[in-house]
Amino acid sequence: MATQKIQIFDTTLRDGEQVPGCKLNRDEKLVIARQLELLGVDVIEAGFPVSSPGDFAAVQAIAAQTREATVCGLSRAVENDIRVAGEALKLARYPRIHTGIGTSESHITHKLCSTQEQVLERAIAAVKLAKSFVEDVEFYAEDAGRTENEYLARVCEAAIKAGATVLNIPDTTGYCLPDEYGAKIKFLRENVRGIENVCLSTHCHNDLGLATANSIAGVQNGARQIECTINGVGERAGNTALEEVVMILRQHPYLNLRTNINTQLLAETSAMVSQMMGMPVQPNKAIVGSNAFSHSSGIHQDGVIKNRETYEIIDPREVGVSNSSIVLTARSGRAALAYRLQKIGYDFDKQVLNKAYASFLQLADRQKEVVDSDLHILVEQENLVA
Ligand code: KIV
Ligand code: ZN
Repeated sequence: MATQKIQIFDTTLRDGEQVPGCKLNRDEKLVIARQLELLGVDVIEAGFPVSSPGDFAAVQAIAAQTREATVCGLSRAVENDIRVAGEALKLARYPRIHTGIGTSESHITHKLCSTQEQVLERAIAAVKLAKSFVEDVEFYAEDAGRTENEYLARVCEAAIKAGATVLNIPDTTGYCLPDEYGAKIKFLRENVRGIENVCLSTHCHNDLGLATANSIAGVQNGARQIECTINGVGERAGNTALEEVVMILRQHPYLNLRTNINTQLLAETSAMVSQMMGMPVQPNKAIVGSNAFSHSSGIHQDGVIKNRETYEIIDPREVGVSNSSIVLTARSGRAALAYRLQKIGYDFDKQVLNKAYASFLQLADRQKEVVDSDLHILVEQENLVA
């Protein structure tokens, strides 16, 4: 079976930037957009142009700068939003307007104070208006995760008829289980007329920690675009993390799904976004956390020193990390101590190593980690000689 391409739609600069404290100015957005293009993302959602003059200017500048990726601007199904998005995207080589409306019972009743029929009409009108500005129109059915499938299918079919090129099925509240979300995508593929002519997109939030699993279930059931952010930043518990879905598809080639991402730029892109947003990456974050390739227990260290693959499924160089690291703690064994001592120039025989190990354990029980400078002192204090 031929490998199929999954489009990576990065929304770090829109959904990611909505997070309190993560706001970026125009120049910062331009720098990140350039990095995203280098990384190989297919679509950059640059912002929500109607939301503020600053965001309009940022989307406009990103549209003018970006030559390879599609540049997308968000709008609600509101006439002025769509006109402003169209204006902001004028200079884009590949412009896309992303417009939509809430489709779940909860959104229709409590947020929009409307009815299913009125929402359907607004969806059609929004796509038609967006289509008068750009050829590429993505429609989102907000809270699709909690929308009953029959009505969702009606809305999707109407959006396709009105000219949508991409259908975004957001699990806005991070509610779905992976098999439920996958089944939703499958249902739409099987029940919406014209669906074979558009791209189905996943957009999953992480409220239950399932955003990545749901996105993968989506593409396993026929979605061909994943919406995600660097480091998984985004509203509340965040969005699907780009680095996670990309590496999952790469590590499981039998899925026959590939992306265009240059994975060796993942670590530096993660660090750039974290630093510019002032949003630290949790140390145990998959792929890009500082502990993602570090080993601290004796059993694991012994394995990794003998052969990296015993405890690592990814070569850290593939994601731009130069090396795995062996961290010395009170849970480390002799193999790890010998390894680290060798790295700093001490090659002890078994007897001396045993002596060093006894002193090392006393020290390690007193502090969280033993670093190279501690080892130098230990060797000196104990008069250890090779
Ligand atoms: O989570 C969501 O539903 C969104 C839409 C605006 C696409 O971010
Ligand atoms: Zn979202």
